[in-house]
Amino acid sequence: MDLSPLHALDLSAPGSLLMVIGAPDSGKSTLARQIYQELCRQYSCIAYLDGDPGQSLLGPPTTLSLAINRRGDLAFPPRGRIWRRFLGATSPRGHMLPMLVGIHRLVSTAREHGAQIVVYDTCGFVSAHEGGLALKLAEMELLRPSMVIALQRETELEPLLQVARASSIRTVRLAPSPRVQPRPPEQRRKYRAQRFQEYFREAQRWVLDKNSLAIVASFPLQPAQLVSLEDAQGFVLALGVLQAIQGEQLTLLTPLRNLDRCRILRAGSLLLDLSTFQESRIAHGPQTMNRQPRQGSEQDVREEGNAD
Ligand SMILES: Nc1ncnc2c1ncn2[C@@H]1O[C@H](COP(=O)(O)OP(=O)(O)OP(=O)(O)O)[C@@H](O)[C@H]1O
Ligand SMILES: [Mg+2]
Repeated sequence: MDLSPLHALDLSAPGSLLMVIGAPDSGKSTLARQIYQELCRQYSCIAYLDGDPGQSLLGPPTTLSLAINRRGDLAFPPRGRIWRRFLGATSPRGHMLPMLVGIHRLVSTAREHGAQIVVYDTCGFVSAHEGGLALKLAEMELLRPSMVIALQRETELEPLLQVARASSIRTVRLAPSPRVQPRPPEQRRKYRAQRFQEYFREAQRWVLDKNSLAIVASFPLQPAQLVSLEDAQGFVLALGVLQAIQGEQLTLLTPLRNLDRCRILRAGSLLLDLSTFQESRIAHGPQTMNRQPRQGSEQDVREEGNAD
């Protein structure tokens, strides 16, 4: 018997943006991938948007990635072009604006590059009291998806689905597959550390002049801070880890081989230990522009809204 929610889904006339939503461990990414591959059979240009900065599939943790397939190619991850935005954290909580801007920019990019349909695999941050539902609602209002596919266990997504229906957005409720394997926090941390380790395996040291870049940082830069090196469009060229800040000079490790297109250095809110590849959060409040941050190095970075 086919226990995948895909078989219960009518994908005729899908429109141009399908948003797969659900709590942590509801099978969103699996279903989104199946939908993507099914649509690749029927259409020539399909985009997959990985909107989970914690358990990211298409890029290193802390990023949001958009990939477009090559015509007729069902491979996953898609083998066509890829664009990334940097969230600088493993959860959208406390980073709602960069999340909204990043997702919107990626969906627009997909359309500019001819994607007929975007399949958006969202993160599991849907808790009402932490602002997850408000974020998803804002995304829905901004992006106007053609279809919202909700993997719902009880009634956790109803407030969102009510608004979607009232806005004439097609909504589909599906029950999560009984075969979904929940991932405990330790497994999630391990996954992120492995992804960071792979990502920085070939990293090399660069010394940059601060004045050669626009620096986007809401508090002072510090050693071990995760940063993003970006092009003039604000898309990630590569991530880096700061090693030293001396006067006008920044020393960092990055897998980037050529800095010619680098215009922006965007600071994240994490420190990355390059011996263990574990991340920790830089403790800071909202008004910390001129304050020295405290380092939360012993604190685990929770993916709020996820199972950890
Ligand atoms: N229909 C299914 N049949 C078998 N296994 C499944 C199915 N759906 C999900 N799984 C398994 O369950 C695990 C979690 O699924 P998935 O990553 O799709 O969930 P998710 O909701 O995206 O999780 P997260 O909250 O971390 O984003 C994976 O190991 C996946 O292979
Ligand atoms: Mg997922």
